[in-house]
Amino acid sequence: MAIQTIATQPIAGQKPGTSGLRKKTAVFSQPHYLENFVQSVFDVVGNEGDPTAQTLVLGGDGRYHNRAAIQTILKMAAAHGYASVLVGRGGILSTPAASCVIRKRGAAGGLILSASHNPGGADGDFGIKYNIAAGGPAPESVTDAVYHRTESITQYRISDAPDIDVDTIGVTQIEGMRVEVIDPVADYAELMARLFDFDAIRKLFAGGFTMRFDGMHAVSGPYAHAILEGMLGAPRGTVINGVPLEDFGGGHPDPNPVNAAELIGLMAQPDAPDFGAASDGDGDRNMIVGRKFDVTPSDSLAVLAANATVAPGYRAGLKGIARSMPTSRAADKVAEALGIACHETPTGWKYFGTLLDAGMATLCGEESYGTGSDHVREKDGVWAVLFWLNLLAASGKSVEEIVTAHWVRFGRHYYSRHDYEGIDAAAANLLMDDLRIKLPALPGASLNGHTVEFADDFSYTDPVDGSTAHKQGVRIIMTDGSRIVFRLSGTGTEGATLRVYFELYEPDAAQQRRPVQQALASLIAAADSVASITTQTGRASPSVIT
Ligand code: G1P
Ligand code: ZN
Repeated sequence: MAIQTIATQPIAGQKPGTSGLRKKTAVFSQPHYLENFVQSVFDVVGNEGDPTAQTLVLGGDGRYHNRAAIQTILKMAAAHGYASVLVGRGGILSTPAASCVIRKRGAAGGLILSASHNPGGADGDFGIKYNIAAGGPAPESVTDAVYHRTESITQYRISDAPDIDVDTIGVTQIEGMRVEVIDPVADYAELMARLFDFDAIRKLFAGGFTMRFDGMHAVSGPYAHAILEGMLGAPRGTVINGVPLEDFGGGHPDPNPVNAAELIGLMAQPDAPDFGAASDGDGDRNMIVGRKFDVTPSDSLAVLAANATVAPGYRAGLKGIARSMPTSRAADKVAEALGIACHETPTGWKYFGTLLDAGMATLCGEESYGTGSDHVREKDGVWAVLFWLNLLAASGKSVEEIVTAHWVRFGRHYYSRHDYEGIDAAAANLLMDDLRIKLPALPGASLNGHTVEFADDFSYTDPVDGSTAHKQGVRIIMTDGSRIVFRLSGTGTEGATLRVYFELYEPDAAQQRRPVQQALASLIAAADSVASITTQTGRASPSVIT
């Protein structure tokens, strides 16, 4: 075997978005596409320090093209001179498990192959992202440098070694680089057992508590099987759709009430299990469902924060909370009661990293079904489910009882997100530009009965490293505490997706059980009046409401 230097040319558009580089699988599998990006990553990050002393973690969500990409990257890492690569068996590592392994094994970083919740398959999406030694997604300074490198790349290096067996636990060598195939679950499961009261959860299941975990045929299945049914004694069948498939069974592995309709339907039956949960393509998202009762991710973050000390890993209390700007302000109420800070960051988990590293936040969350903590540097689906199980075990209450008691104490933040998917990109940008022009005139204006107190395009200055992010979403905040947020998705691969987020605060317990869309109706109409959504997008209604 020998290291080959292959001539290449820059390929346009290799700019990482909200979470790594995501494209159609057909784009990713064209000659040199993956290689150009990986070489650019190595050129940017692999030159810091001595690669021959460095370990790289490698794994993905198992989607179509994962196996081929794993082989390419192993051969490129060997050509780059990495000392070793830790690869999940079968090329599998959930995103949070990859973060856990990077941290635990002291790796220099990791490459995660995933397009998260986007559909997979030959016609679906593929993606890649680099995570740094702290375990989290590379900051923008790194992803920008990688992007610039892709614009001038002329060659990449790759070993011509035959394919490496990644299906058997053990160690092999390629070009003097050590390749260790690891159990994708073991390190992660060991961390979970330290954070949560597994004895209490075991007793809960032994006492007849019932649950369904929907793996959505994606990567969290093996983790849920091993931890819930294996370590915690939940009956077999608790985990459904638990075998990762290359096309996720043709489904859309995004755990929200629309895509996880099977679970939602199950939880609405008269004989529904006590608890339902689902996770996404790469295992970092979570959806929590009670019997006939959906929990919004914003509420889930707030509930976990208010009750965090039930879990052994959080017994000392929280240092702070962080939430993305569009996430509801339910967590802010809890932070206020606990006397800790609640940080508001732009959308994307990468913005939590510095706060977690600096000990300024313990729990973080996003409205997009993402919850996590300082245990890793990614959001974490199975972790959130275990946290809820710990809480259910400790309280002896149902999901609905826990959440409604939370509302009575802190007030309810009615919340919904409306997505307009696959709209014309130029029209979407125009809508946002028009909104920005209107911003200065909005304070004091009445929008469908709500008086605007404040409106801006969200800018963020990281309190730890001083880095800034601009144009992160238009916020319109009303004098009654309600809010409308507009932003364009940064994870799509076709056209544009407009996201409109609605939030209305209801402190009166007698008014907290209204249908959500009805409670938000005046804000929804206000959004259309200020942004002319229907006219500008040509869509009479959103494609997805969560
Ligand atoms: C979406 C979510 C965002 C999340 C990201 C990655 O990004 O809205 O909260 O961090 O996926 O999972 P968007 O498509 O809105 O840019
Ligand atoms: Zn994901």
